[in-house]
Amino acid sequence: PHVEAEDVAARPVDAGELVETAFAKINLALHVRGKRADGYHALESLFVFAELGDRLTGRIRADGEIRLEMDGPFGPLLDGGPDNLVVKAARALQAHLGGSPGADLRLTKILPVASGIGGGSADAAAALRLLTRLWNAPMAPQALERIALSLGSDVPACIGSIPQMVRGRGELLQPQAVEGLTAMPILLVNPGVALSTAEVFGLWDRLDRGPLAAEGLEQLISEGRNDLEQAAMAAAPVVADVLAALGACAGSRLVRMSGSGATCFALFDTDRQMAEAAAALRAGWNGWWVAETRIRAA
Ligand code: C5P
Repeated sequence: PHVEAEDVAARPVDAGELVETAFAKINLALHVRGKRADGYHALESLFVFAELGDRLTGRIRADGEIRLEMDGPFGPLLDGGPDNLVVKAARALQAHLGGSPGADLRLTKILPVASGIGGGSADAAAALRLLTRLWNAPMAPQALERIALSLGSDVPACIGSIPQMVRGRGELLQPQAVEGLTAMPILLVNPGVALSTAEVFGLWDRLDRGPLAAEGLEQLISEGRNDLEQAAMAAAPVVADVLAALGACAGSRLVRMSGSGATCFALFDTDRQMAEAAAALRAGWNGWWVAETRIRAA
């Protein structure tokens, strides 16, 4: 089943219900600079976000409980138990606040799971944004980022969901506007293989290929890399097919894998080029998830 972002966004919200979009995260470049003593990897990455995302709604529960239901095309792949990042985010915020109401949450899962576009991280960040509103608990940005980092390396960047240069294990954030990137058409393609982030980092060849400079789109294209592509291809050879198929589409400007994969993306100058590429991929590759979206403005 194909759910368009617009359909989801247009759904009515009941009185007392709040809604947040968990925007897909895209690493336009991801440079792995080394392995740290704590086991995490030192990164330099340009994060942008898509207009497309999961949708999270919530309403107050007086009894303090957190309940999560899931629907949408990828909802059946997850359960709403205590290990779900949305539930963990809610519990972490409750603990920080030292008591708060509860919430009935519903997550409409539009983004594929374990796919390198930050679905789980974006969901957790959306939960933090939503619950601070629902519980009327405004938070200092540093405190919110600390809770976010405790949930996952990508969660701090997902709070703001704006273009950012991300360093450290994911906690050092610097807003970065790249000329011409806002609202640029971006096609996301996932071949239906879930990849474990830890496994892909474990397959990295430990070669530091140098820093990331992204002054403009041309430099991002020519000098940017995703240093996890080879590792992801070792775990899932189909990633090479996705990159080749996107590279063969007329008008694709930048073709790269996002995060630890397996989702890859292509940037286009026009909606029409993107639509033609999407049609060709849907016709030629049965079962691939192909999503047309745009880069979200800062
Ligand atoms: O932070 P998060 O829990 O999302 O990371 C999942 C796994 O990805 C980590 O356990 C680690 O193996 C790997 N990782 C890493 N370096 C990072 C981020 C994640 O090695 N900067």
